[in-house]
Amino acid sequence: MRTRIIGTGSCLPEMVVTNDDLSKIMDTSDEWISSRTGIRERRLVKEETTAAMSVTAAERAMKNAGVSPQEIDLIIVGTITGDYVTPSTACEVQAAIGADKAVAFDVNAACSGFMFALHIADAYLKTGIYRTALILGAETLSKIMDWNDRSTCVLFGDGAGAAVVRSDETGLLAYDQGSDGTRGKVLTCQNRKNNNPFVKNPIAFSYTQMDGQEVYKFAVTTVPASIRKVVEAAGLTIEDIDYFALHQANIRIIQSVAKRLKAPEEKFPTSLDHCGNISAASVPILLDEINRKGLLKPGMKIVLSGFGGGLTWGSAVLEW
Ligand code: COA
Repeated sequence: MRTRIIGTGSCLPEMVVTNDDLSKIMDTSDEWISSRTGIRERRLVKEETTAAMSVTAAERAMKNAGVSPQEIDLIIVGTITGDYVTPSTACEVQAAIGADKAVAFDVNAACSGFMFALHIADAYLKTGIYRTALILGAETLSKIMDWNDRSTCVLFGDGAGAAVVRSDETGLLAYDQGSDGTRGKVLTCQNRKNNNPFVKNPIAFSYTQMDGQEVYKFAVTTVPASIRKVVEAAGLTIEDIDYFALHQANIRIIQSVAKRLKAPEEKFPTSLDHCGNISAASVPILLDEINRKGLLKPGMKIVLSGFGGGLTWGSAVLEW
């Protein structure tokens, strides 16, 4: 049996912030942002929370799958921006949708969070422990951005994406996953406030910091290698793949991956222009967008790939 995605859903916050809006409050321009990243606008939360967007995305995915909350055995949310340290976002989703018998927990693998959640769910389903899982990527990155740092805050957005997975005859064909903690400092967001009176210099919270060029180099080398590996493990060639749904970090990364794989850019759908980078939520939101457009047909071969903080990466080949 294989783990199959049987439904997708997503939720974006209402507020649209364009590059021009940003250029009114900081020294940047639409030209700089769009030419270097492909991002034209992003959605940012006002009242919405990570959990609330996750619940909406989950309900849409369950509706799309034709699955009721009582059928969900497992809920995993990939996130680095849950509303609370505890309870987890997954437990909040469980309560809100009434998935009484589901086991629920979060995974911190930054932009690879949804891919790690998919792989964990696959392991549970393959061993027969659970039959149906709800996996999500959900972020309110606007909470952890330094809005005085134009080199990072213009890149990111908020949102949630979800998928229902179930054991079936086809689905996940192969998986590749990796971590390299030795390079973790190129993309960081340090701890939360600490007022422990017994410690002289308690660690204070600091916003997201990134060495953009190092992250770029990591992405354009690791991602094509991971995709090649997983496609080969599935017994397929790059030409056999119908769509490559990659983490939406930067259009130049996506173009470089396409070039290195010698695959046409038309096979790389994007949501970057209207979403920006939503970390763990990027892949499931993109997947839901192409699913809702009716682009995914049974039998198609799809590559999903996420990469980012940790450093972490994960790629999968699915038969739709
Ligand atoms: N608007 C205008 N100018 C900006 C700017 C902004 N928002 N952000 C930075 N700049 C300036 C810099 O200050 C620098 O100016 P200087 O030359 O006078 O010092 C100049 O633009 C070039 O900055 P640099 O950081 O070298 O740009 P870059 O070409 O490397 O592009 C990124 C920056 C972030 C777009 C690019 O490195 C990137 O996409 N990296 C990958 C990041 C990523 O995807 N991270 C998430 C992975 S999950």
